Amino acid sequence: MASLHDDTFRRIAELMHGAIGLSFAQSKKPLVSSRLAPRMQRLGLDDYEDYLALISGHSDAGEFQMAVDLLTTNETYFFREPAHYELLEAELVRTKPRTLAVWSAASSFGDEAFSTAMLLADMAQLGRIGSDWSVLGTDISDRVLRSATQAVYPQERLRNVTPERLRRHCLRGEGESDGMVQIHPRLRERVRFGQLNLCQPIEALGPFDVVFLRNVLIYFDTETKRDVVDRVLTQLRPGGLFFIGTAEGRVACKTPLQSLAPGAFRKVVS
Ligand SMILES: C[S@@+](CC[C@H](N)C(=O)[O-])C[C@H]1O[C@@H](n2cnc3c(N)ncnc32)[C@H](O)[C@@H]1O
Repeated sequence: MASLHDDTFRRIAELMHGAIGLSFAQSKKPLVSSRLAPRMQRLGLDDYEDYLALISGHSDAGEFQMAVDLLTTNETYFFREPAHYELLEAELVRTKPRTLAVWSAASSFGDEAFSTAMLLADMAQLGRIGSDWSVLGTDISDRVLRSATQAVYPQERLRNVTPERLRRHCLRGEGESDGMVQIHPRLRERVRFGQLNLCQPIEALGPFDVVFLRNVLIYFDTETKRDVVDRVLTQLRPGGLFFIGTAEGRVACKTPLQSLAPGAFRKVVS
């Protein structure tokens, strides 16, 4: 198998940084080469230079998207960092909103969007929030968005979902689909997915009452992080809740935020 030369690696990293903000340090060279190698093999290419030429030319946008799909890290699961859902629930119990718009801004396979939808559906059912709620999930990766729209998951990814919620919101697969679950159409109709690059200007999407931007900032450098956070926060209404991954620390953004808990903030009303 071909080896990835430092210079080619640097130019792949620059291409990805410029297009979608991902920052690949030199230490990530083995990861980049191992993720691209099977694709190159499939295309009959044995030189990373040839693959770079393919994804950097304008003639094959599909192959560039394929490289994005391969180089993004999409790990996620239902009710990840449960303290954030508890905080959201407590806040909604306190404010009893009649309408609620939520954005999962790096949604990956949709686990975060559907976890939120389960919580909101249950709260609406109990009359704790109004029935006019919706969730939007966006991501840069086509592959994860296609999967999110299908809303089919290995049961293991729903390990943090209570048995009652599983019964209420999921359909269990049988036969060939044993071990898989599909989100109930009732919930799926409240959750939309679309492609959005956090590193480009965001057309008016919101305003949202709650924004999740969790476990994506770690892949960006400091400047990109700050720009992405400020850009995303333009879509959050003042007073709205903003969540980042608990391991992602405090972001030095220009938008004033009040810290509520690890990874949880309120956009200050100016
Ligand atoms: C690790 S997943 C996080 C999923 C979920 N938010 C969570 O916390 O479980 C990170 C996601 O960010 C997406 N991503 C990376 N760069 C992006 C960009 N520039 N714009 C939009 N999404 C991006 C990746 O495709 C990936 O699905």
